[in-house]
Formats: sequence, structure tokens, C-alpha cells
Amino acid sequence: MSTLSLFAPAPGNALTLDEGLIALPGLALPYASALAQAVQDIVQEAPWRHMQVPSGHRMSAAQSSCGQLGWISDEQGYRYSPIDPQSGSAWPALPLVFIDLLAQIAEESGQGPFLPDTCLINYYDEQAHMSLHQDRNERDLQHPIVSVSLGREALFLWGGATRKDSVRTLRLRDGDVLVWWGPSRMNFHGIRRLEGPAHPLWGSGRVNLTFRRAG
Ligand code: SIN
Ligand code: FE2
Repeated sequence: MSTLSLFAPAPGNALTLDEGLIALPGLALPYASALAQAVQDIVQEAPWRHMQVPSGHRMSAAQSSCGQLGWISDEQGYRYSPIDPQSGSAWPALPLVFIDLLAQIAEESGQGPFLPDTCLINYYDEQAHMSLHQDRNERDLQHPIVSVSLGREALFLWGGATRKDSVRTLRLRDGDVLVWWGPSRMNFHGIRRLEGPAHPLWGSGRVNLTFRRAG
């Protein structure tokens, strides 16, 4: 397994890591406290939950969502829903700080404007991981995926368009942003595990925001 390296990353510099994969190391760092407050507010309304995949397995990462739609999984399968099944209400709105951050990501990546109707929020603790998967529940796969890493470092897995393709690992740090689209939009990806010390703001966990246009 080879490692994709963010060689001497300078915050805000866009790095092309693959055809259709850009990294913006540390871009979200200036937004850290506003993002932490926004996530705290969202999970007050739509608390973290461990969803079940259709096979019955419980996901080790906890999740919440905001926006017009939220990603859900249960025995009936994976899908987006305008209603949070846990509360029976609409999901919380996308907070302004998410919109501001996305505008900057659009500018720096050259891939915007992004018009997300959902943000899936993943929370990983020491034991959590996310198996290799494709993001394929969105209606129009032309729209990119924008991923923001907050808190502890994680080893991100980046494969190819098929499960057989070789998988590289990328160390994602607090504030790192990835954008993938087009030739990489259907690439398999996942999280092997968390690494490194606890984070002053997020403690021993890691939060990942993925913005999508799903509907
Ligand atoms: C995801 O694929 O939904 C999350 C990836 C990550 O946590 O970085
Ligand atoms: Fe994903």
C-alpha cells in the first residue's frame, strides 16, 4: 500500500492528488470554533446515532445530518430523507459558517460553486472506522463531494473506481479539505482509523463533514 503524501503542505494551497481529487490542507482551520459551535447546535436537534446497514451491522461511526436532506440507513437500505426518522422532523438547516466555508473551498479549488442540499456529519471515536465504499446514493453524480476533517488525525483510504483497485492512504489532519468529482467521483474511500494525540477542541474524536447535492 503506498501513501499519498501532502508534501510540505502550505495552508490554502490546492494540491492535486489524483485525477479529480484536490486537497486543501488546513483550509478550515480559521473556522474551527464557529464550526464546533455549529456542529454542537446541529446535534442538539439531530443527535448522533449509529445507523444500521441493510445487513444488520451497526456502523461504528456515529452520524447526523443537516440541510434539506439527510443520509439514512436501515434494514430497508441506504437513502436520503427530508425527515430525520429519529425526531420525526426536518433536519437542521445548513449553518451559515458551512456556507461561508464552502464559498472559500469553491474559490480555492476552482470546482464550485457548490450547491449542497445536505451535509452528512460523521463522528469517529477511537474504535470507529469506515469501510471502503462509494458515495452513490446521490441522484446526480455530476456533483462533487466536499469533505472537511476536524479534530484528530485519521488515515483516509483512497482507492479507485472498482473494489479491486489498489488503495492508498492519506493522513487527514484537522482543517484539511478534500474535493472529489468527475473522474474520481465514484472512487472507493474509507477511514482506516484515528491516529495521533487528542485535539484541544474536539478531544479524542474526529468529525468529518461531507457536503453533497443529493436530491
Ligand atoms: C465518508 O466517506 O462519508 C466519510 C469520510 C471521512 O470521514 O473522511
Ligand atoms: Fe463516503
